[in-house]
Amino acid sequence: MWPLLLPFALAGSAYSTILHAHTLVESIVSPDGWVNLGAAPAGHIIPLRIALPQANFSALEEHLYAVSDPAHKRYGAHLSKAEVEALVAPHPDSVSAVDTWLSEHGIPNSACTRSPAGDWVSVRVPVALAESMLNTTFYKWKHVEDDVELVRTTKYSLPEHLHAHIELVQPTTLFGRKKGQPAMVRSVGAPQTRAHALRSRGTITVTRSDGSTLTVDASCNVTVTIACLRQLLNIGDYRASGTNGNRIAVAGYLEEYANYEDQQIFYKDQLPEAVNSSFTYTLVNGGRNDQNFSSDTYQDNTNMQTVLGLVFPATGTYYSTGGRGPWIEDSDTDADTVPPYGAWLDFVLAQETLPQTIMTAYQSDEQTIPESYAKRVCAGFAQLGARGISLLVMSGNGGVGDANPDPRTQRCWTNDGRHKKRFLPAFPASCPFVTTVGATMHIPEVPTDVSGGGFSEYWSRPSYQDDVVSEYLTRQLRGTYAGLYNPNGRAIPDVSAQAYNFRIAEWGHLGMHGGGQESTAAFAGLVSLLNDARIEGGKPPLGFLNPFLYSAGTAAFNDITSGNAPGCGTQGFNATVGWDPITGLGTPDFGKLKDLALAL
Ligand SMILES: *[C@@H]1O[C@H](CO)[C@@H](O)[C@H](O)[C@H]1NC(C)=O
Ligand SMILES: *[C@@H]1O[C@H](CO)[C@@H](O)[C@H](O)[C@H]1NC(C)=O
Ligand SMILES: *[C@@H]1O[C@H](CO)[C@@H](O)[C@H](O)[C@H]1NC(C)=O
Ligand SMILES: *[C@@H]1O[C@H](CO)[C@@H](O)[C@H](O)[C@H]1NC(C)=O
Ligand SMILES: *[C@@H]1O[C@H](CO)[C@@H](O)[C@H](O)[C@H]1NC(C)=O
Ligand SMILES: *[C@@H]1O[C@H](CO)[C@@H](O)[C@H](O)[C@H]1NC(C)=O
Repeated sequence: MWPLLLPFALAGSAYSTILHAHTLVESIVSPDGWVNLGAAPAGHIIPLRIALPQANFSALEEHLYAVSDPAHKRYGAHLSKAEVEALVAPHPDSVSAVDTWLSEHGIPNSACTRSPAGDWVSVRVPVALAESMLNTTFYKWKHVEDDVELVRTTKYSLPEHLHAHIELVQPTTLFGRKKGQPAMVRSVGAPQTRAHALRSRGTITVTRSDGSTLTVDASCNVTVTIACLRQLLNIGDYRASGTNGNRIAVAGYLEEYANYEDQQIFYKDQLPEAVNSSFTYTLVNGGRNDQNFSSDTYQDNTNMQTVLGLVFPATGTYYSTGGRGPWIEDSDTDADTVPPYGAWLDFVLAQETLPQTIMTAYQSDEQTIPESYAKRVCAGFAQLGARGISLLVMSGNGGVGDANPDPRTQRCWTNDGRHKKRFLPAFPASCPFVTTVGATMHIPEVPTDVSGGGFSEYWSRPSYQDDVVSEYLTRQLRGTYAGLYNPNGRAIPDVSAQAYNFRIAEWGHLGMHGGGQESTAAFAGLVSLLNDARIEGGKPPLGFLNPFLYSAGTAAFNDITSGNAPGCGTQGFNATVGWDPITGLGTPDFGKLKDLALAL
């Protein structure tokens, strides 16, 4: 199709060049770690995503807070898919201006796909055409560490009259890439695991921050199983219904897969009654269901085991979203460099019904995601929240630094060309419309030394956390680290949970796992059980959690008050009395949260 269209396209662009002078939309300095390999081949296909302004996003945000704030009379009255779409739909003038521009470049309407609300237009175009549309030059870039190759540019322009009608075009300046998600992994055989358990017979009784006590098996301080999580989270004998329509999902990207066989091994080990229970795969944007043990990635495999182990007999789905693969020369089919959050959002926002609880455990340094793009992804999360979906996101595995917790290679400086020392918050954790989960370990619980936390540079502090974060800044931090973080930014994490020594199955045998993804999965499983209790009580699910967690919900958290997560050559932030940027409000008590949630 495109080789035919291309000559027209080039003719069209010569025409528009005369009529419309371009002005700059965005320009970045060459990103750290990427080497420019020269001009991209003219015929290489770029899957462009064009964002039109969401005409009434501020109204959507008001609705989101109204239906998520327990003090509001509209609490729980979530919006329908159609209501959300009406609020984020672009103005008709924007639609026609963009359509005209595309047709001037020889792109017919039939070559475009649109998000349900029409606020995103996607079209696959050859580099030469994208270059004339955006008056830029695309280059091939290679990453020094992992040899990933991308086609990107460092700046792009649009005709002046389109600036009011197009918020952003990607992939252009988006170099974000897969981050190592360093887990503290150790493979152990079953006999050794049994030996551990034997050495830690008996129980441990700990005093919680509210003076109550919790008794758990001593083995849970060495190996965390589903039985341990049920004790630590005070789930007691609560069981999900399994038939009331409550579902949970893990959103995975970048060739991470959940494995059916490992799920069964895990069930045999920890939850024999769940053996034979499975989950569904939902393939998005060319994502695959790869059950090969040769895959060198496993995070989402462990996440599925944890969430499903907690919610059994309820079950759920694994979203396998394709995109942003390595760039392959002369291929126009394998150019899937679409940023996967956008592709996933396009898919889920188009569904009438969705799992009530969705988690994701990926981390990019916020500064590596262009602000305009991060804001649109975050706006997509707000749309899910308004529809009553609870979203749980990992706070990160690098403490105050980047995703790499190794102090020898951790990078803690700005990428704006000034190279200033700075703490680096993680995205999507920093989006104010998700619930961000930090990581704890051991009994009594302390933060892991890599629990991600800090303050966004893109979003200001949302009002739901204003009181507790101001308190932390003025009473605890008192000027320490001034200049290294944004004291007015959205603060992370919101909450935390156990993250260490999880016994899970990978590649056909049991192993031990730890990291922010485990705590996110544990918290997501708990939220799904809360949603189950709400549904059983004839109530809508909890939806966007933060306004509840930071008000009535705070009383249901065990405050973590000691420990720190060093990074960037500092001791990092401390866990303190009250909210702190390493464990948030603390670790949850299901029994208390359920009582509170049922009273809403
Ligand atoms: C495209 O950018 C170049 C400079 O990079 C400028 O000289 C030229 O006028 C621009 N074209 C349009 C149509 O704005
Ligand atoms: C935005 O939404 C609000 C509330 O739903 C509505 O009253 C208003 O008319 C909308 N504005 C526009 C420009 O659509
Ligand atoms: C749990 O394990 C940690 C780390 O080994 C240890 O410091 C702590 O004392 C243990 N807790 C109990 C109650 O034994
Ligand atoms: C699982 O399936 C196998 C084979 O059909 C059956 O023998 C076994 O009893 C099932 N186990 C459970 C817990 O349902
Ligand atoms: C699984 O591995 C086999 C053998 O290496 C290969 O032929 C097959 O394509 C792989 N499947 C997927 C989905 O990657
Ligand atoms: C953390 O606590 C230690 C020990 O009390 C203290 O010396 C340090 O200043 C605290 N750091 C921060 C950032 O609050």
